[in-house]
Amino acid sequence: MSVWDELTDTEIIYRINKNFYEKVYEHPWLSLYFVDIDQDFITDQQTRFITGAIGGPNTYSGRMPSNAHPHMYITEELFDIRKKLLEESLEEEKAPESLSATWIKIDESFRRVICKDSINDCEKRYTTDEILAPGKPYNYKKTG
Ligand code: HEM
Repeated sequence: MSVWDELTDTEIIYRINKNFYEKVYEHPWLSLYFVDIDQDFITDQQTRFITGAIGGPNTYSGRMPSNAHPHMYITEELFDIRKKLLEESLEEEKAPESLSATWIKIDESFRRVICKDSINDCEKRYTTDEILAPGKPYNYKKTG
């Protein structure tokens, strides 16, 4: 039985993503990566992606996470910040333990390919692509 099959309320995937991207779009550093991205669109994409990844219907037609971020300079520190926000959303929406554990594991499986040691490791997906590397805001303070 998949994690999806165990869910009594499958709408929870959407609610977690909605909660999560609200945090992301409010975050002083993480939000800088999303200035050109529609919040409803990414919420929907992520909902479809995770639904398929945990054994539900596969309606996701975007890029795999391994191919969606080559032009973004994402550090381990930023990845950890994102992870913490996701953990908070999972908790706030009362995700069952099996869903939380699987979701975090899926995200973690992309850490190595998404995180980069240097901006020189970024690659444009198309010639018109711009390298996305918003630095940490000078007044950024870790919260929580
Ligand atoms: C700090 C880490 C991350 C940042 C800053 C980030 C940022 C972004 C941004 C800005 C986009 C929109 C790209 C575009 O449409 O051009 C995106 C797309 C996406 N990201 Fe991430 N991401 C991060 C980590 C992850 C992780 C861990 C996953 C694993 C599930 C993931 C999955 C996706 C997916 C599925 C898309 C949609 C791709 C598409 O629509 O083709 N991201 N991400």
